[in-house]
Amino acid sequence: MVTSAITAQPDLEFAAEVREGLAKPQKELLSKYLYDDVGSALFEVISVLPEYGLTRADERVLQRNAFEIVEKLPLPMLVAELGSGSGKKTRWLLKALAHRQHTAYHPIEISPTALAMCKRELGDIDSLSIVGFEREYLDGLEEVAARRKKGQHVLVLFLGSTIGNFDRPAGLQFLRNIRATLVPGDAMLLGTDLLKPVPQLLNAYDDALGVTAAFNKNLLVRINRELAGNFSLGDFEHEARFNPWARSVEMHLRSTRPQTVTIAAAGISVRFAEGETIWTESSHKYTKEEICGMAKDTGFHCRAQWFDHEWPFAESLLIAE
Ligand SMILES: C[S@@+](CC[C@H](N)C(=O)[O-])C[C@H]1O[C@@H](n2cnc3c(N)ncnc32)[C@H](O)[C@@H]1O
Repeated sequence: MVTSAITAQPDLEFAAEVREGLAKPQKELLSKYLYDDVGSALFEVISVLPEYGLTRADERVLQRNAFEIVEKLPLPMLVAELGSGSGKKTRWLLKALAHRQHTAYHPIEISPTALAMCKRELGDIDSLSIVGFEREYLDGLEEVAARRKKGQHVLVLFLGSTIGNFDRPAGLQFLRNIRATLVPGDAMLLGTDLLKPVPQLLNAYDDALGVTAAFNKNLLVRINRELAGNFSLGDFEHEARFNPWARSVEMHLRSTRPQTVTIAAAGISVRFAEGETIWTESSHKYTKEEICGMAKDTGFHCRAQWFDHEWPFAESLLIAE
């Protein structure tokens, strides 16, 4: 195996996006900023919490079906994984694929910590070369697609239901943007968490140990550190709520008292009423039929689906038309 990395410039947009998000009537911070070093490490812990069945369900699906998934792929192909995280469950698929062909694997990550974990996790697989891209999803995918050799297809992995961080219209637009970088016959394996009872969903995003709360609050720590903010952590609490119209679990940070927070590097002072929240993440939930409809609307067809029934979850193989 060969590993190397292509690194992006430091993100100069953080201050501008924090300023913009906190000026909205429903204050917002973009979920991509949850993943600094601490956030990426905390997400790994979340993925093994008893309440958060999602990652284990996805891994079961990939482990049980890796060879069948690979049989349905148009080889030869190179692999781009959007938001790979540690890449732990991608191992099953990459091992099955590397049995069939020497495989170039390109994790695309905004978090250098996640990228480093991914290379450590997967670096021992034979017949696999890893070149990671520290990029936003679509920028990274364009660079990977430009590396394809004649006759080679691209397989995009978007696992772990990360698509659920987009609201439904934005998720469709994202799939269209991915499709625009692909050619007919290219493939995408899309992981999606399926709708389940609301108490089960809320527990998954508000665990008893408080790890998800720490993951959420770490965004304020990051703003304090990187943008010279003065958020007082004790004055905000984590909240998970189900939005039945959007069919999503939302994470918020609730101000427990009236207060003003200054973020010097963003040039703002922000007032919070008691009980007012900052919306930090959404995780939309799907039905299996809906996924094939989304594929059809965005230039793919749904070739096959695999499910976990213990924690309803779907992996769908979409082929670009
Ligand atoms: C919910 S985690 C999922 C990780 C892994 N795919 C899994 O299923 O366990 C989302 C990952 O996407 C990365 N990420 C979030 N927004 C991103 C963006 N705009 N571009 C690239 N990576 C992003 C995060 O750093 C994080 O590692």
